[in-house]
Amino acid sequence: MIRSFRFTSLLSAAKPLRSFACSSSPAIEPPQCSSSSSISLRITHPKTPLFLRAPSHAAPLSEVWKWHGWAKDLASSVDDNSSPEDEDSLDSILLLRELKWLIEDSIEASDHHHPVIITGTETPRGDDGEKKSVKLRASLEELYDLWRQRIEKRRPFQYVVGCEHWRDLVLCVEEGVLIPRPETELVVDMVEEVVRGDEWFKRGVWADLGTGSGAIAIGVARVLGGCGRVIATDLSHVAIAVAGNNVRRYGLEGMVEVREGSWFEPLKDVEGKLVGLVSNPPYIPSDDIPGLQAEVGRHEPRLALDGGVDGTDSLLHLCDGASRMLTSGGFFAFETNGEKQSKMIVDYMTSNLKDSFSGVKIVSDFAGIGRFVTGFRL
Ligand SMILES: C[S@@+](CC[C@H](N)C(=O)[O-])C[C@H]1O[C@@H](n2cnc3c(N)ncnc32)[C@H](O)[C@@H]1O
Repeated sequence: MIRSFRFTSLLSAAKPLRSFACSSSPAIEPPQCSSSSSISLRITHPKTPLFLRAPSHAAPLSEVWKWHGWAKDLASSVDDNSSPEDEDSLDSILLLRELKWLIEDSIEASDHHHPVIITGTETPRGDDGEKKSVKLRASLEELYDLWRQRIEKRRPFQYVVGCEHWRDLVLCVEEGVLIPRPETELVVDMVEEVVRGDEWFKRGVWADLGTGSGAIAIGVARVLGGCGRVIATDLSHVAIAVAGNNVRRYGLEGMVEVREGSWFEPLKDVEGKLVGLVSNPPYIPSDDIPGLQAEVGRHEPRLALDGGVDGTDSLLHLCDGASRMLTSGGFFAFETNGEKQSKMIVDYMTSNLKDSFSGVKIVSDFAGIGRFVTGFRL
């Protein structure tokens, strides 16, 4: 199951554009979902996404059709309520696509067929709809509520269904955790390239700082293929619980260790020993936060977005720390807000930290924007 549309990227601070990206390979769903966390001492229970819930609800097909008709009408009505000048309005075509995914995640299919998705002008006939019963992973009441939240509250679709498709993964996400963005998939691709070029990288310890849902850490662990180890850190308690849950869902507990704390603080035992350090830190300039797309600004955690006055507070801290944490020859990759920030980071590393790093360069994202800074510890 590939969902090729992701609602937004953090590409630009002011009203980020909706971005389209295709996963390179089909999404692999892990065998099970655990809803409890044993990694953190303060127990937080991550939410179970719709697609992993048991189909424990039932409703007459006619009622589900009624809901579907209502949901389609509500999605279409956004076009009547927005002006062409409004850059931050919803798009009915995209909403209808999301509605189809909501149905796939919440309504049990019989013979891979969802009885609810009515195409064109086709309408239910006879009393078929009264007699047939449909199994649901959420009550109809919740489905009405979820769709209202999506449209009226601008709640991100990924929080509505509780997951995001990222690379070949389906990651649980919820409020309090950043929804992983398509451009960040490239961080794992860069790690894959480095590892392919030198087996030494496969056997060492890597760190993903500010792991959020655990996306990069899990991606990197799968690239290492059972040899090395990844330590994933985050300051957010919710992120730690969600990342821990995703790590378990992919059976990577032996390879990915999730640690709570600020940046390098939980990594004292591996100082100077890391063979790789990756991070997608908060990088939006503080003044740009109020202008973000409603889904981002209203719902995603400020801790994951706000990078200080010019957006580089965390990035500069990571550069300084990388010189301490990486072993000689170690690789780093940082995501930035784009061209301007990337240049600032390269300048900083090649002037203030010139004795620590080699091969520092900017790498472009899918859109050709200088998005990442990479290099090696001397
Ligand atoms: C832009 S999000 C990236 C999340 C994830 N790596 C991804 O790419 O989807 C930045 C992450 O950094 C975390 N963070 C913010 N300040 C931090 C700090 N001082 N120490 C560790 N993590 C921090 C946030 O909680 C958030 O999860």
